[in-house]
Amino acid sequence: MSRRPSVIERFSELRDSNSPLASRRPSLASRRSSIDPSKLIPMDRATHISGSDDFNVVFVGAGNIMFGSDEGPWNHSFRLEHKLGRRLKVVALIDPAIERATAVLQKKCDSFVVSAYQDTRVFKTLEDFVRNMSPRDRPRAIIVGSPPMFRGSTKPGRDLELQILQHFPGVAMFVEKPIATGPADEIDDTFKIAKMISDSKTVCSVGYMLRYLKAVQMMKHIIEENNLTVMTTIARYACAYEAIAKPDWWDKSKSYGPIIEQGTHFCDLSRYFGGEVDISTVQAHSLEWNENAGHLSKLAIDESKIAPENRIPRVTAATWKYDSGAVGSFTHVAALQGTNYSCELEVYADGYSLKLVNPYVQPVLYVRRPGDDHEQTYQFPDDDPFFSEISNLIDIIEDIEEDSDAGQILSSYEDAVRSYELTWAIREASERSRDAKRSPKAS
Ligand SMILES: NC(=O)c1ccc[n+]([C@@H]2O[C@H](COP(=O)([O-])OP(=O)(O)OC[C@H]3O[C@@H](n4cnc5c(N)ncnc54)[C@H](O)[C@@H]3O)[C@@H](O)[C@H]2O)c1
Repeated sequence: MSRRPSVIERFSELRDSNSPLASRRPSLASRRSSIDPSKLIPMDRATHISGSDDFNVVFVGAGNIMFGSDEGPWNHSFRLEHKLGRRLKVVALIDPAIERATAVLQKKCDSFVVSAYQDTRVFKTLEDFVRNMSPRDRPRAIIVGSPPMFRGSTKPGRDLELQILQHFPGVAMFVEKPIATGPADEIDDTFKIAKMISDSKTVCSVGYMLRYLKAVQMMKHIIEENNLTVMTTIARYACAYEAIAKPDWWDKSKSYGPIIEQGTHFCDLSRYFGGEVDISTVQAHSLEWNENAGHLSKLAIDESKIAPENRIPRVTAATWKYDSGAVGSFTHVAALQGTNYSCELEVYADGYSLKLVNPYVQPVLYVRRPGDDHEQTYQFPDDDPFFSEISNLIDIIEDIEEDSDAGQILSSYEDAVRSYELTWAIREASERSRDAKRSPKAS
């Protein structure tokens, strides 16, 4: 009887597109929380989804995540163009910054993807679009890339998800991370929104794209194949602060701080491997801007314009217990200059260490297994998690394959709410310990 190939063997055969394994639908991807790495195909090797009917899409937000920027590889419009080809019809672009929206549309109309954008109308709000929508404009997906302070709430003006559920029942949503940035006492609201989304069976994917990395899926499958129990997750996110020139990012009253806005990706990945966090166990410390070790010499912004109480910490280090008993830790650092970040996630289980390095730019996975003191190294050239997350969403909306595992959403709204809750818990724990240090109890 022939032996079933391991995920490692399948991975090494991925580059050989003639391999029978490249096209076979392996049974490995039977758990809904993961995708077989061999199914994560880069954009230039993916074919446009079949069919000839229009696929209407509404974009909310005309900014960097939707149309790209020099700061990173994100650009949802580009991935949708590749996935849907000439079927893509962007029926509306919602953004209060009409000029910015009009300018990005003009660029698209001047290019070879004009067919997707020639009839796009710009609206300041979703309600404006609803009032002016003809039945043939009804979208099949709404892609949300507006800033998180304008969504993820039940409060009028910030209740975008509820508006979508009300006006577009049954229409799929993609929502960028973090799902919100509002006061901590509104976290309960985000759980309510999650429940409404799941009760209505709305297809909804949240933009934690690192989950779609081939390296991450390989880690997941090593854990599943070997029936491992994760003992600890150790995450470190060191950003290149010199390259961060958005004043809001440095202002906790605007961005809600680097854990909620940026570290969220790694808190989410930690949960993806460690499972649910016992929020009551979260502890954290910070190095603050006004402590001696917190001085930064190459700030791209004028921090004196930010109120002292809103300035961000330079280091935040947190630990917590997962419900499983495993221990999680995360350190966010704003210390590096230049442009490249230094980010790593280590996952340990009995006999194994899985170390993911540089997931944003060029992911490398180091795997140590029982019986060998050396790590094996895996590289993942041409991987595009942004394409994979969009591609999987569209496959689910289209329901093109009978195989229920063909498309997978790896980050549901509720899951993303839990990551949001964890990031708030880390921020609050670090502020508690900061305040306790500032005003020690009288002895
Ligand atoms: N997954 C990733 O790696 C990644 C990368 C970049 C950004 N993001 C996320 O994408 C979101 C947007 O970030 P960005 O960099 O594109 O920001 P941006 O500032 O470049 O663009 C945001 C756009 O939204 C518009 N906007 C403001 N209020 C709005 C509203 N109520 N409705 C519709 N549009 C509104 C703004 O005018 C602006 O054009 C954030 O949540 C961010 O964290 C994720």
